Amino acid sequence: MLGPRLIAVGGGKGGVGKTMFAANVAAAMARAGQRVIAVDTDLEGANLHTAVGVPTPRVSLAEFVARRELDLERLVIDTPVPGLRIIAGTQSHLGVAQPRHFRRVELLARLRRLAADWVLVDLGAGTHPSVLDYFLVGDDGILVLTPEPTSVENAYSFLRAAFYRRLRLAMSDEATRKLVTQAMDQGNQRGLRTPLDLLREVRRISPAEGERLVDSVQGFRPRLVVNGVRSAEDIRLGFAVRSVCRKYFGLEAEYLGYVNHDDAVGEAVRARQPVVRSHPQADASVYLNRIARKLIDDRTRSQQFAARSRASARPPAAAAVPRPPL
Ligand SMILES: Nc1ncnc2c1ncn2[C@@H]1O[C@H](COP(=O)(O)OP(=O)(O)OP(=O)(O)O)[C@@H](O)[C@H]1O
Ligand SMILES: [Mg+2]
Repeated sequence: MLGPRLIAVGGGKGGVGKTMFAANVAAAMARAGQRVIAVDTDLEGANLHTAVGVPTPRVSLAEFVARRELDLERLVIDTPVPGLRIIAGTQSHLGVAQPRHFRRVELLARLRRLAADWVLVDLGAGTHPSVLDYFLVGDDGILVLTPEPTSVENAYSFLRAAFYRRLRLAMSDEATRKLVTQAMDQGNQRGLRTPLDLLREVRRISPAEGERLVDSVQGFRPRLVVNGVRSAEDIRLGFAVRSVCRKYFGLEAEYLGYVNHDDAVGEAVRARQPVVRSHPQADASVYLNRIARKLIDDRTRSQQFAARSRASARPPAAAAVPRPPL
């Protein structure tokens, strides 16, 4: 059986709608017949459970982080939305620290073994290495931003931090890793201003590491969502951010879609329900459903493509080969 596809939802800035987006896309997928688990990794301001109608989760990710429970299936709880389950985040007063890098990798490996078609991971704000790791190791990293200069600025710093962390983790020798760390500091003395400068320098030290760097850049395809859209100009922001990513980082981001600003979202939060469920006809629900549909269709298409390529690569079965006439 195929494992779940892991989608991380981040955005750098607080309050841009990451939780709203993760909760609703998860609910929309579940309503479309998919088995979905949404995971709240925000250990400071966990609130995904409220967004999907679970007032007081009986267990949470805290059990895993504190190593009281390593079987994630036991931390999964049902929600009022059929097909949608969650792993709740921890409450701040518990003072649970983020797990360290190798524990995060372990958590992600275990998330991949859950019985679901999709695992959506809701990230906290900021560019802490834990947030970046979750964003990077997912099959898809979705960056939510709003049409406000502060959000756009944070989106760029988030992408930049994630991008360089990815490059650094991909390097296998200490010298090139150090170079990537230096390049992260924009005012560095070595004159490494862009990823291209960095690539040139890495290639000079080691062509093999240069190849790894190129692979790592090409494998990084963040997907962008503009939330809280009120005008056509706001919608165009996604294309502008995509162009900047290409021009300054040499990376291909995809503009996945937008969600308009809609009072129904606030009403749904107050009713502790996903808006796609409480207000299915609202504009925001239409756009959120559209994005969920797109993710499902993209996956189906790539599975069909993989199955076709496997079939055409296979030698014909013995029985199908006509026997030569005797
Ligand atoms: N499209 C929208 N239309 C109207 N209100 C919205 C929309 N998206 C989000 N909101 C409101 O914005 C607020 C913040 O949303 P949310 O909690 O999802 O942000 P967040 O990015 O997860 O924040 P944090 O960084 O604190 O985790 C919520 O009150 C939510 O109802
Ligand atoms: Mg949130």
